[in-house]
Amino acid sequence: MKNESIWKSGAPDTLRYPGLSSDVEAEVAIIGGGITGLSVGFFLARQGIKVSVLEATYVGSGTTGSSTGNLYIAIDEMYHEVISKYDLETARLLAESRKRAMVAIDEIIGQYQIDCDYKKTSWNLIAETRDAVPKLEKEYNALIQIGIEATLSAKSAVFPDAHACLTIPDQAHFNPKKYAIGLAKAAVQAGCIIYEETRVLEFEDVDNGVLIHTTRGSLRSRKVVKATHSPIGEKLITTLLGPYREYVVAARIKTPFPSGTYWTQQDEHHYSVRTAMDGSGQTHLLCLGEPHKVGQDEENTERLKKLETYLRNRFDVGKLTYTWGAQHYKSADLIPYIGIYNNDKIFLATGYSTDGLVYGTVAGLLITDLIQGKPNDWQEIYDPKRKNPIKSAGRVFKENLNVLNEFVKGRIPFRWEADPLQNIEKGEGKVVVIDGKKYGVYRNAQGELSVVSAICPHMGCIVRWNNAERSWDCPCHGSRFTTTGKYIEGPSLQDLINILPSQEL
Ligand code: FES
Repeated sequence: MKNESIWKSGAPDTLRYPGLSSDVEAEVAIIGGGITGLSVGFFLARQGIKVSVLEATYVGSGTTGSSTGNLYIAIDEMYHEVISKYDLETARLLAESRKRAMVAIDEIIGQYQIDCDYKKTSWNLIAETRDAVPKLEKEYNALIQIGIEATLSAKSAVFPDAHACLTIPDQAHFNPKKYAIGLAKAAVQAGCIIYEETRVLEFEDVDNGVLIHTTRGSLRSRKVVKATHSPIGEKLITTLLGPYREYVVAARIKTPFPSGTYWTQQDEHHYSVRTAMDGSGQTHLLCLGEPHKVGQDEENTERLKKLETYLRNRFDVGKLTYTWGAQHYKSADLIPYIGIYNNDKIFLATGYSTDGLVYGTVAGLLITDLIQGKPNDWQEIYDPKRKNPIKSAGRVFKENLNVLNEFVKGRIPFRWEADPLQNIEKGEGKVVVIDGKKYGVYRNAQGELSVVSAICPHMGCIVRWNNAERSWDCPCHGSRFTTTGKYIEGPSLQDLINILPSQEL
C-alpha cells in the first residue's frame, strides 16, 4: 500500500517548469499552482495579460492532487441551507457559477485535448439511514427551485440498503493531477509563465504593486492573486476559516462498480465513493471521509480503519492500495471568499469546503473579470470583504473559541517527565518539554531523533503529531510541517525551527 494520492501513480511530482532564476516583473503574480492558480493564469493569459505563477513545489501536487477529482454542481454546504440563510437568488447565482465553471472545464479539456480520464457521470446523495431522508428531500426541493435537473428516488441500485437517493445527471469526474498538468500546459501556450520549486517567503508593499520575495529571487507585480488554498500572509481571513482534514482509502475492486460520484450520508457528514484508474490502468474504489479539525487529534490511523471497514462491509474489494489525506477550509457563512481583498492589489480565493475543483475554476473566471475591471454577477456573493455578521457569527464564534482553546492548551505546562525522549517509540512523534520549552520530537524506524520547535510560526499555537501522515499539524489554522519542520501547507510562510538534524528522516 502506498501512502500517497492515487493520482501521483500516473502523473508523478516532477519538475516541468524551471524555478525563478532572477528578479522579474509581471502584471499579475499568482501564488499557487493548483486548480485555482492555473485557472486564473490560463484565463488571464488568454486575455493577453502578462501573468506568472509561483508554485512552491510542482503544479497540481497540493490539494488539487489530493482531491477526489469529482466535478459537480452540488455543494457540500447544501443549497437548502444557503436558501434559508440567504435567499433563492444567492443560491441560484452559486449554482450558475458552478455550472459555468464545469462548462469551462469541459471546453478546456476538449480544446487542448487534455488526457485526464474525464468522464461524464452522475452525482448521487444516498440516505443510508431513515434520519437522512429529510435532508435529501430538502435538497431536492432546493435544486428544483433554482432550476437544477435532479431526481429523488426511494432506492439506489448501487446501495441496496439505502432509504433514498438524490441524483443530478450529467456531472463528471477526472484525474485532477493530470488535468492540472494539462491546464498548466494550456496556460503556458497562452503566454503564462510558471515557476516551480519557487516558494514565497515575504510580500513587500511597493509603489504600484507588490514585491514578492521567494527562495530563488523576487518578482515585482502590479497585482497578486493568492491561490494557496489558505491565503499565505493574510492573518485576518484565517480567523474566518475552519481548517479540516479528511482521509481517502483506495482498494482494488473485484467486481464491476458503476461510474458516478456517491456521497453517502453518515450522521452529520458524508463519505464520498467513486472508482478511479491508477497509472497502469487498473481500477480502484476510493472512499473519502472522516472530516476533523486539523491537528486536533493525534490518533488518525483509526479514521483510515473506519473508511476501510466501510468499504469492506459494502463492496467486494481487495487489499488497500493507496491512502492519503486532503485538507479543506470552510468559510464562516457557507460561501467561499473569492475576489478583491486589499486595495485592488491583492486577490484571493479560499473557503471552498470540499468543493474546490469547481470553485477553483469559478475563481479563475471571476478573478479574471475583476482584474480586467469587467462587471460580473457573482462578485457580490463571493466578495471576501463581505460583512455578514449575523450569517457568520455562529461559525466564527465556534471556530475562534476552538482556536483560543488550542492556543491556551498549548501554553499549559506539561507534567515534567524525567527523560521525555526515552518514552518515544520508533515511528512515533510527541511534543515534549525540555528546559521549559516545547519541542516536537520524532523517532524514525532506525531510532534516530529529529527535533523541531513546537511553536507554529504563523501565530504561535503549539503543533501536534499526526500519526497517520507523520507530520506536525497546527490545531489553530491548519499549517502542516514535515518531521524536520519543513512547511507542507497552510497559512504559515515559514518552516518550524529545526533543532536537529537538518536532513529529512
Ligand atoms: Fe495559525 Fe498555526 S496555523 S498558528
